[in-house]
Amino acid sequence: MSSLREVHRASLEDPETFWAEAARELDWVRPWDGVLDERRAPFYRWFQGGLINTCHNALDRHVASGHGDQPALIYDSPITGTKQTFTYAALTDRVSRFAGALAKRGVGKGDRVIIYMPMVPEAVVGMLACARLGAIHSVVFGGFAAAELAKRIDDARPKLILSASCGIEPSRVIPYAPLLREALALAQHEVERCVILQRQQAPAELAAGEESWAEVEAGGEPVPCTPVDATDPLYILYTSGTTGEPKGIVRDNGGHAVALNWTMKNVYGVEPGDTYWAASDVGWVVGHSYIVYGPLLNRCTTILYEGKPVGTPDAGAFWRVVEELNVRVLFTAPTAIRAIKQQDPEGEHARKHDTRGLRALFLAGERCDPATLEWAQGVLKVPVIDHWWQTETGWAVASNCLGIERLPVKPGSPTRPVPGWDVRVLDDEGQPASPGTIGNIVARLPLPPGALPTLWSAENRYREAYLDEFPGYYKTADAGMIDEDGYVFVMSRTDDVINVAGHRLSTGAMEEVLAGHSAVAECAVVGVSDELKGQRPMAFVVLKSGAPESAVADETKTMVRDKIGPIASLKSVHVVERLPKTRSGKILRKTLRSIMDGQEWKTPPTIEDATVLDDFVKLTKT
Ligand code: COA
Ligand code: AMP
Repeated sequence: MSSLREVHRASLEDPETFWAEAARELDWVRPWDGVLDERRAPFYRWFQGGLINTCHNALDRHVASGHGDQPALIYDSPITGTKQTFTYAALTDRVSRFAGALAKRGVGKGDRVIIYMPMVPEAVVGMLACARLGAIHSVVFGGFAAAELAKRIDDARPKLILSASCGIEPSRVIPYAPLLREALALAQHEVERCVILQRQQAPAELAAGEESWAEVEAGGEPVPCTPVDATDPLYILYTSGTTGEPKGIVRDNGGHAVALNWTMKNVYGVEPGDTYWAASDVGWVVGHSYIVYGPLLNRCTTILYEGKPVGTPDAGAFWRVVEELNVRVLFTAPTAIRAIKQQDPEGEHARKHDTRGLRALFLAGERCDPATLEWAQGVLKVPVIDHWWQTETGWAVASNCLGIERLPVKPGSPTRPVPGWDVRVLDDEGQPASPGTIGNIVARLPLPPGALPTLWSAENRYREAYLDEFPGYYKTADAGMIDEDGYVFVMSRTDDVINVAGHRLSTGAMEEVLAGHSAVAECAVVGVSDELKGQRPMAFVVLKSGAPESAVADETKTMVRDKIGPIASLKSVHVVERLPKTRSGKILRKTLRSIMDGQEWKTPPTIEDATVLDDFVKLTKT
């Protein structure tokens, strides 16, 4: 077996040979003319000239090779008390009929379809049906409010929206129809129709332009896969940036399928036939890559879990699934493990379940604190692998690659760069930082297949956000270092993005909402450390002169939940007299964050009190 160093070197020295070999594992309608197209650098394209269909490679290919009876997708929903298994043959049949139904409604290659759905199998059917037709799906996380959905409708300009009558949270059933209709009313773009999955917990009264999913699917005739260019988009996934306008990350068909298929064996160490579980949500990149595409491309059995890690029914919820479904690899966010640990510090629930089938737990989505990693390792007695990536990259940039060579774990580090990724640390002037010195983490261009080729209808924004600051490199906007052994350490973001319970959010977007309150003159939102959720947003507001203070905190908290979604709940809102600024008037957010980090304010401070006083005064004097 080659060492990670050798494989990594090979991937960078001759990326075309490396990725062409990986690409041969898939079915191509027509092979590529060139592996890497550099003609429009820094806009690179992979497998140009190749024709492929991602749905074919994820489903039909496995049925054709005699694996139609293998479970492809297991829906496990403790929150509704439902379990359902779909074999590869059954899932292919459903997807192809639903694709036929969409085609009847005019959806074809290049059309966009927004999917605003909870964690139900139909969400996956919808994604794969789009892929089958060459249509471009854009899944919007169910925890986003109407205004966020409207922004995505206006940017993606979908022909059709797939949704459900409700989502289910432990404390409440959330009717989606009012959110969807509000979003459609807010958006400028006119959507031709919506297909609504009726759920018994809260069926919706269908309005004009809305059709029932069951009826739509029942009328669908199976359709074959539409070949698309390898470089054609498979999906757009919106993610938070510095401003309130989300970035539409584009994923192509060819490079994405090649890279994800490769990661299943090489990063996660799973084989076709294994059960792989990403306990995330299809609304996030982890859900796209590792609930849907990666496991299915590699003919694994994937699990769609609707519920929380704790409370459904208890802190053993995950371990019950691991035991019952014989999960080989589990992937989740550190927050989920912290939530379990908080309720079951001694790991008693884990001991009640036979988790011996598990070979590894992978964590990503936010920084993993060593205590959480070590706790999970002690309880599960398997390697716990922290790995680092982003919506933009689509798959791991740094990880312990279990299918290549298992390296010793250094808690706090997602180990070494994965083959395909040439990771460097640069100082603010763009000069290489010495080992162990913190700087900007970047990846040398071209990025490997599967990473974003551009932003949806925003090529300039792509260039400005990722490529301009360090020419020749992709800026991750993460700060960190690489140590003497080549281990990467990711410390924090360099922009206004925060990670709350593994959900990526923009403090800029929250500030835009706060600024809309009639009493607010100025505001700043920063992410502060939180024991359970990793980070939580904290707001500082300066009121307009004479404005009453009393209700501002409650009102602004509600506004942020209503406009962005409940996942963006402000931890606290503090009315202050001034915000710390530079001479040129820029708010010192980093300073605010470091002053606040770890502090719990019992009473809202003004500039005259709290331990922060000295710092505030010092800062405002400079
Ligand atoms: N639809 C509607 N509302 C949602 C939602 C969804 N899909 N997801 C979350 N919410 C709501 C929650 O009900 C909660 O509402 P509340 O404030 O009224 O109680 C709010 O948004 C905050 O949610 P969250 O931050 O997720 O907290 P939680 O208490 O519901 O759950 C965890 C905490 C740790 C159990 C949960 O965040 C978790 O499992 N995290 C793992 C994250 C993950 O999968 N990340 C993806 C990358 S791997
Ligand atoms: P997302 O695009 O939602 O996947 O969020 C990506 C961001 O989450 C990264 O830029 C990091 O800031 C953070 N992140 C993800 N995984 C890790 C990790 N393993 N360690 C530290 N930070 C991480």
